[in-house]
Amino acid sequence: MATSPSILADKLHEYPQQDLIDGTSDGVAAVLESCLSKTGGVLQLLHRYAGRTFCSPGKRLRLEEKSYYPDYMGGTGLDEIWMCCTVPIVTGVVDTRTGKAPYREGEAHVLTPEGQVIALQDLIAAAPETVMGEKVTAFAKEMFGKPTWPIVSKKFDNLNPIPDHLHWAKWEVYDINSFDNPGVSPSHYHTTAMGLYSWVTKDKFLECMKSYGQGEYNGIRHLAPHVMMQLDNGFTMPNGVLHSPTDLCTHELHVTMDEHFLAEDVTLDGRISAEAAFYACREEDYPKAKHGDWDYLVDLFDFAANQDPDFVLKNSRPAINAEQFSGAGVDAKWIVYGELLGDQKCSILRLTLESGAKTNFCPECPTMFHTNGGSGRVGKLEVRYHQDMVLGEIYPEIGFITQAALNSGGVEIENTGTEPLVLTFDFPQNAHSQTPGVAAAN
Ligand SMILES: [Fe+2]
Repeated sequence: MATSPSILADKLHEYPQQDLIDGTSDGVAAVLESCLSKTGGVLQLLHRYAGRTFCSPGKRLRLEEKSYYPDYMGGTGLDEIWMCCTVPIVTGVVDTRTGKAPYREGEAHVLTPEGQVIALQDLIAAAPETVMGEKVTAFAKEMFGKPTWPIVSKKFDNLNPIPDHLHWAKWEVYDINSFDNPGVSPSHYHTTAMGLYSWVTKDKFLECMKSYGQGEYNGIRHLAPHVMMQLDNGFTMPNGVLHSPTDLCTHELHVTMDEHFLAEDVTLDGRISAEAAFYACREEDYPKAKHGDWDYLVDLFDFAANQDPDFVLKNSRPAINAEQFSGAGVDAKWIVYGELLGDQKCSILRLTLESGAKTNFCPECPTMFHTNGGSGRVGKLEVRYHQDMVLGEIYPEIGFITQAALNSGGVEIENTGTEPLVLTFDFPQNAHSQTPGVAAAN
C-alpha cells in the first residue's frame, strides 16, 4: 500500500478549506497517478488570484463583487489571476493574518480526486516527462537548470494602464479578447504605450529619467506612441521595450521569470518611488549597485528596439485560421503565432465548438488551457464558464493536458451545453515541429 503524503500546516490564501499536500513527502508519484487516471491525463488547475499594491482591479475576473477585496489584503484588491505559474511571484502584498506575503502566491496548484491540492511544480518534479514530455523537460533543464513549465499564463485586469515599464529579459505576449472584455467596441480608446517616438534623443530620454520622482510627473508616456489594442487579435512584446499595458483585461503569456524596471513615477493609481522603480530588477540583468544611476540605465537602453518605426506592424498578430484543429462544428484560430525574437517562443490557440460538437485534440506538446465560454468536457474533466465566482470556492475552468494524455492519443473535447464552448490553449517554446503562422507573422 502506498504511503499517504503529508499535509502542510499552511494553506493557499484563497482556499483555506483545502488541505495542501507536502510535495517533498513520499507518495507524490501516487498522487500524480490518481490525478491522471481520474481525468484521462488532464489536470485540473485552481484559479490563483493576486493583487498589486500599485494597481486597482478592473473587476472583469468574474468574481462576485465582495470577493475582489479580501479582508486580509490590507486594502489591496484582486486584479490578476495566475492560471499556470510554477515559480514564486512577488506582488508586494502582505497577508494581514500572517504578516507575510500570501503563501505560494500565484503558484499553480492541482486539485486531486480526494479534494486536496498540490503544487503543479511538485507533480512536474516527481515525473517531468509524464507531465511535460521529453522535449519541454529537456528545454526547461537547459534554460532553468531543472524541469519546470517554461511559460507563465495569467490575466491582468486593471482599471488603469499599468505603469510604463520594461523587462530586461522577459518577453511577453497578449491575447486581449472579447470574452474577458464584454461590452468593449473596436472603436473604444484602450491603448498601450509602446517604446519611444523616433524624435526622442538619448539626451531627452536621460532628462526624463533624471526627473524621476522630482516633480509632478516625469512624463515618460509623453514620449511614447499609444497604440489602440484590437480585441481578439494577439500582440507580442519583446524584452527591452517600454510598455504601459492597457486598461483592458488581458490574457498574457510570458517566459517563466518575474523582473521589471518601472519607468513611470506617477500613474492614476499613485506615485512610485525611484527605489520601487528598480526593486524588481534581477542582479544578472541590472546590478543593485546601479539602481538610481540614470546614466547607466540610458546607456543600457536599447534605442533601436524602442524606436523601430515598424514595431506595431512586426508585433501585431491578427488572428488566423488553424486548419489542423478545425472540423465539423469546430472553429480553430491562432491568436499568437509565428516567431518572436528569432524563434518559436509561445503560441495561443482558441477553439470554439458548437453545441453538440466533438473533436479529438492531440497537439504535439502538452498545453495549459482555460475556458472562455460554455460548458463541456476536456478528456474526463468537466469544464464550465462561470460568473460571480466566490473567492474560496473551486470552479473547473482551467486545466493542463499532460504528455500522458497525448501518449494515449490525445483527449476528446465535447460541447455538452447549449452555448458555444470556447477554450484557449497556451503552448510553450518550440511546442510545434512547424511554427504556426510564420508567413502571416512576416
Ligand atoms: Fe510587462
